[in-house]
Amino acid sequence: MRLHRVQALGPNGLTEPRDVDLPVDHADVDATGLVLSPGWCDLHAHLREPGFPEKETLATGAAAAAAGGFTQVVAMANTQPVTDTADRLRANLARARDLPVRVMFVGALTEGLEGRRPTDAVALQAAGAVALSDDGRHALDLQTLVGALQHASATGLPVLIHPQDESLGSQPEAELAAVEQAVAALRQVPRARLHLQHVSLAAALPMIAKAKRDGLALTAEVTPHHLWLTEDALRRWGPLAKVNPPLRTEADVAALRGALIDGTIDIVATDHAPHQAAAKRDAETAAPGISGFETAAGMLLTLRLPWPVLYRACVALPRAILGIPLSPDWILIDPAETWAVEPDRFLSRGRNTPMTGTRLSGRVRITICHDRVVHHAEVPVG
Ligand code: DOR
Repeated sequence: MRLHRVQALGPNGLTEPRDVDLPVDHADVDATGLVLSPGWCDLHAHLREPGFPEKETLATGAAAAAAGGFTQVVAMANTQPVTDTADRLRANLARARDLPVRVMFVGALTEGLEGRRPTDAVALQAAGAVALSDDGRHALDLQTLVGALQHASATGLPVLIHPQDESLGSQPEAELAAVEQAVAALRQVPRARLHLQHVSLAAALPMIAKAKRDGLALTAEVTPHHLWLTEDALRRWGPLAKVNPPLRTEADVAALRGALIDGTIDIVATDHAPHQAAAKRDAETAAPGISGFETAAGMLLTLRLPWPVLYRACVALPRAILGIPLSPDWILIDPAETWAVEPDRFLSRGRNTPMTGTRLSGRVRITICHDRVVHHAEVPVG
């Protein structure tokens, strides 16, 4: 496949237009105005298998990831059963063998995600876990977290923390307390590697910046929805805008965007959290989460983040955090295509998004993984 006059995305931004050959059996493409990027890597997704096929399966999740430009995806452990043993991790990997994109798995940090007994990090790593995480829950006290970090540090696996102290609910204090606790734990086990998931508050950023200045191996992520939406979305969309952590204020959104650009926040991760319609109907009981794969790139491109920031946040650092090399996968992006979000056209089973009808500019046209085209968007007419 030859791409004519494509601009390639690298650490320093975009190259001048040039012809690029890819080892893929596909007709040549006039890529004037298009951007070729290494496939994006999503460190945080819920693929719901085993246990919740009404929300998503590995197959539908992987198809949605391909449509969103993610060729490597890390699936969380809050499935049924929880991925907290080596056998379960191996079973997940066996199920993920023939998917269009590369799906990796975390092992739970504690048994059943309950925050009490650490899992067997060594066995989980030997089975293929790429990280450890209780995501969806955070029930650990400081001492248990320190113990779990000690176990994890023996493997070198990063520990992904969902920083929301469960005993404090979803109010801002719950996130600030959990970030403070995570940094305190890392200070006690400085050889561990700790990653903060979905940071949502401006007030968390100085703590993260300070820990980094102190040389701790701390990284942090933000989701596209926390870079875009405020609590106002709840008034308009009700349960569809219910997510953990909650959407916050304008000031938080502005601070998160700044922190992504200045590097206090390292990466963007989707927290793709598909749910069936029935789980999103009632405001009181609705499950938290937003189906995120298929809107992420459009949301980030519409923000017009500097290209080197996109490269760092979506290509380079997610893999650096996992300690894995860049895979030979590619996406072709049209930064100028404008389109309206239509969840009925999602490949994900989860149509739960507060982005319906929003016009985005920037879309993934082609996704190449395993040396073949695994997604090809329809080219808009007119
Ligand atoms: O909104 C969320 N949904 N946040 C999480 O941390 C978990 C996720 C889920 O599993 O649905």
